[in-house]
Amino acid sequence: MQNLLIKKHKIMSLQLGDTAPDFTAETTEGKINFYEFLGDNWGVIFSHPADYTPVCTTELGRTAALQKEFDKRGVKVIAVSVDPLDKHLGWREDINKTQNVNVEFPIIADEDRTVANLYGMIHPNASTTATVRSLFVIGPDKKIKLTLTYPASTGRNFTEVLRVIDSLQLTAKHTVSTPVDWNYEEDVIIPAALSLEEANQKFPKGIKVVNSYLRYTPQPDLS
Ligand code: BEZ
Repeated sequence: MQNLLIKKHKIMSLQLGDTAPDFTAETTEGKINFYEFLGDNWGVIFSHPADYTPVCTTELGRTAALQKEFDKRGVKVIAVSVDPLDKHLGWREDINKTQNVNVEFPIIADEDRTVANLYGMIHPNASTTATVRSLFVIGPDKKIKLTLTYPASTGRNFTEVLRVIDSLQLTAKHTVSTPVDWNYEEDVIIPAALSLEEANQKFPKGIKVVNSYLRYTPQPDLS
């Protein structure tokens, strides 16, 4: 039985580069088709265990407070909860009141767990019914670019999610990578595969050589 569960879970789990599953669902903003909602934008879809719970309340509050930051990056945000729509609507008022925000992103009412199962948001050995704190960043090509999984007891850091999105958007446009704790406008890493001559040509802002495989350049412009 355990083996079967593990096998089933493995089949369901989404990995980097996989296509994000499409779905149509009831949400606090009406019926939404996920791909239509995303359009050509980047997307974040994230689950939490239950409505009217403290950590989840702070998480959705922080996401709402960062709405302008997500907008600036062209990222559409949508939350998933296996609770029903009427419960979401009441809880949303609580979030707005207690976190001093205005939740504008949709919250999916995933009572039958369609979305939770599509995205492998239920981890049976953590809870057979509640979704864990899953988060997926999806690119404009509908491919999964980031997966995060946190337990129910630990709230996520949505500033970190924005930081990763900055890196994903930069590295989608330029052949660079971003070092540990990198933040927007800080130096980035030149691929080791480039010769020094090629690197000098490709990165006119200059290069800083630490050794043959660790070389930095100022962040290329994103726009
Ligand atoms: C919370 O959001 O506080 C929470 C939800 C489910 C389990 C544990 C904590």
